[in-house]
Amino acid sequence: MKTGFSSFLFPNGMLWVAFLIIGFRGSHGDFTYSIPEEMKRGAVVGNIAKDLGLDARGLSLRNARIDLKGSRKRYCELNAQTGQLMIAERIDREEICSSKTTCPLKYELLLENPLELHNILLQIQDINDNSPQFPNDEIKLLIPESANKGARFPLDVAHDSDVGRNSIQSYSLEKNDHFTLSVQSNSDGVKYSELVLDKELDREQQHDLSLLLTAIDGGPPQRSGSVTIHVTVLDVNDNLPVFSQPLYQVSLPENSPLGISVITVSATDADEGANGHVTYEFSLLAGRVAKLFTIDKVTGEITVSGQIDFEEESHYEIRVQAKDGSGLASSAKVVIDVSDVNDNAPVINVKSLKNLIPENAAPGTEVGIINVQDEDSEGNRQVRCTIQQNVPFKLISSIENYYSLVTTGELDREHITDYNVTLIATDEGSPPLSSSKTVHLSVSDVNDNPPVFEEQSYSAYVTENNKPGSSVCSVTARDPDWRQNGTVFYSLLPSEVNGVPVSSYLSINGDTGVIHAVRPFDYEQFRSFKVQVVARDNGSPPLSSNVTVSVFITDENDNSPQILYPTPEGNSFMTEMVPKAALSGSLVSKVIAVDADSGQNAWLSYQIVKSTDPGLFSIGLHSGEIRAQRDISESDSMKQNLVISVKDNGQPSLSTTCAVYLLISDNLAEVPELKDMSYEESNSKLTSYLIIALVSVSTFFLTFIILIIAVRLCHRRKPRLLFDGAVAIPSAYLPPNYADIDGTGTLRSAYNYDAYMTTGSRTSDFKFVTSYNDNTLFAGNTLPKNLGQSSECLDFTGSKCSTLVRHNLFYHSIL
Ligand SMILES: *[C@@H]1O[C@H](CO)[C@@H](O)[C@H](O)[C@H]1NC(C)=O
Ligand SMILES: *[C@@H]1O[C@H](CO)[C@@H](O)[C@H](O)[C@H]1NC(C)=O
Ligand SMILES: *[C@@H]1O[C@H](CO)[C@@H](O)[C@H](O)[C@H]1NC(C)=O
Repeated sequence: MKTGFSSFLFPNGMLWVAFLIIGFRGSHGDFTYSIPEEMKRGAVVGNIAKDLGLDARGLSLRNARIDLKGSRKRYCELNAQTGQLMIAERIDREEICSSKTTCPLKYELLLENPLELHNILLQIQDINDNSPQFPNDEIKLLIPESANKGARFPLDVAHDSDVGRNSIQSYSLEKNDHFTLSVQSNSDGVKYSELVLDKELDREQQHDLSLLLTAIDGGPPQRSGSVTIHVTVLDVNDNLPVFSQPLYQVSLPENSPLGISVITVSATDADEGANGHVTYEFSLLAGRVAKLFTIDKVTGEITVSGQIDFEEESHYEIRVQAKDGSGLASSAKVVIDVSDVNDNAPVINVKSLKNLIPENAAPGTEVGIINVQDEDSEGNRQVRCTIQQNVPFKLISSIENYYSLVTTGELDREHITDYNVTLIATDEGSPPLSSSKTVHLSVSDVNDNPPVFEEQSYSAYVTENNKPGSSVCSVTARDPDWRQNGTVFYSLLPSEVNGVPVSSYLSINGDTGVIHAVRPFDYEQFRSFKVQVVARDNGSPPLSSNVTVSVFITDENDNSPQILYPTPEGNSFMTEMVPKAALSGSLVSKVIAVDADSGQNAWLSYQIVKSTDPGLFSIGLHSGEIRAQRDISESDSMKQNLVISVKDNGQPSLSTTCAVYLLISDNLAEVPELKDMSYEESNSKLTSYLIIALVSVSTFFLTFIILIIAVRLCHRRKPRLLFDGAVAIPSAYLPPNYADIDGTGTLRSAYNYDAYMTTGSRTSDFKFVTSYNDNTLFAGNTLPKNLGQSSECLDFTGSKCSTLVRHNLFYHSIL
């Protein structure tokens, strides 16, 4: 203030002097001086002596002095020498009177001698020595950004110690975009200012402002004081969170592990604090999707929390919300494209399947439809379907993903009945996945196999005289077909044996194939026969095959030897003539016997069991030839009787005996004696009958034979009749009793007989000679063509016997 004082006091000094004089003249009795504050020490306020009309000497004489009422300070002093009132101390009006508009200092001037008292009033005038001042260094204002235009914010009132004009007259505000200043006076007349919002604030644009407020007083000279207003713009939640992108797009492989991060969304909120604190959440997620993804509230990271399955859903659109502290929200879309991973093996579906395939199905027959599916996409769903090797089936790809299962070859149920066909489907993913399925196919039967006999032919050996019903043999045929197609029934093929239906000989068990004899067989009747057995299955149509069963009847020793010559006792009167001159060893007779059996059973041996003169004759054991053992002598009895036993070699053996009558004589005249010798009961009548009979029979046969020859000559194919001597009979007349097994004989050469067939009549002995070969097996057969070609007979020794027989054969009656 001192500095300020001098600066404006002196230039105006003249003015102040005038002012003081005027003030002096206005008072009565008392002195009034008006001075500005802050005058220099020693400055003269007034000349009291002069103003009192006293000379300066008088004042000092009178001991004049001044007192300031009520104050210890004096401020002014009286110069008694000059009578001048001078400033003694600094006068600061603001200190003395503060804000009072008038500031008087009352002095008393005391004069002695005489005592005189004068009041001196010193009016202290204010000078503008104080600047406006604000109470604080700065003004802090907190204004929400939401404050409306026109809002008022009262500001601190500045203070100026000066009074009157020197006090604050106005305020001014630094120019700015948002605020204006409104200056007001209150009821005390104190001026104050208010900030008026002229343009809305935006914290997000400018969160604080500094404004300079200046208070100006009246002066002169004008003084001012300033303060900075700090306006802090308070945040109001006026901003939505804003996502960094409106759309987030991401690709996610399926089967991503739990917890893996998908994407992080982020939103910013320009607001501050809680208003700008963004949290994230899904909005409106369907329940299922909500389980698959979770979002971190704070970071906005979306993670996988469930099984991501491309096949279930390949595309997710999720809305994400960002919210600030007071709930303002905005949203963004997150598109998650799930990418396929080859995680689904192909699935094989058997759409149709013929479980039963007839074995005659042609190659290429469709037996099933297969469908393959793969839920994956693109390459991962490209599926190839194959079939295992070594089965007669293949897959033909028809329509996409459909395959036909067809046969590739002939099926044979009898070979392979069932197939387990494994289908393998492989996709083209990487790595590829595959699956397989086994289908079971059965081959159904077709009657394609005829029954087959186990043997190519069967032979059965049956001993004759078998019991009816006994089993002969058994045949078996196999048919690999199924059930009735493979069920075999046996039957005999109708045929005839010896003109008799075969069924009267044999029967067959249709189920078992066991063949039974229906009746006893007689080896002597026939030795073998063949029968065809048919095996037929039960299919439709049935298949059959046949086999030949040869039945061989084996011999049993059931026939005793039969003597052909000499004829058995009692019915014949044959006697052998032995010349008297017969020498030792000469053949005298021969016993001829046959046995209907064969082999050992027909191997005959001869023995003399009784003789008139033992030692005279002997018989060949097997030839039956009776020979003289020594020369016949005169002394030998004329009549010789031999009893001969013929025995076969069977087990047990059978035998027959016969008697041979020998007459040792050279003369037929001696024959009548024979009557006495051998036939006691014979008579002449019989003899003559016999002669007649012989002649007639011979005549008859001669005629007959001539006829036969004639017929045979006419019909070359007809069998020839054979003769021997005077008597022969056609073989066709022979009974079928005598047969031999063709080709069986191990003893064949030994057993080659001449068969001496007899007719039924015992009284007529005819000899029929033919070869063994012509001895036909079956009665029904026609005579072989070579009949008679070899008309010789062989005895056991192999010598020709026909001559002998012829030679020796004669009838007793002729004799
Ligand atoms: C086919 O499979 C079935 C069941 O697995 C089995 O019983 C049968 O023996 C198999 N057949 C063939 C021919 O492998
Ligand atoms: C037997 O074969 C026929 C065809 O020849 C067939 O139709 C039938 O089903 C077969 N029977 C059985 C039991 O397999
Ligand atoms: C018996 O089988 C043969 C061949 O096996 C055949 O030729 C013949 O016709 C069959 N006979 C009958 C009567 O079935």
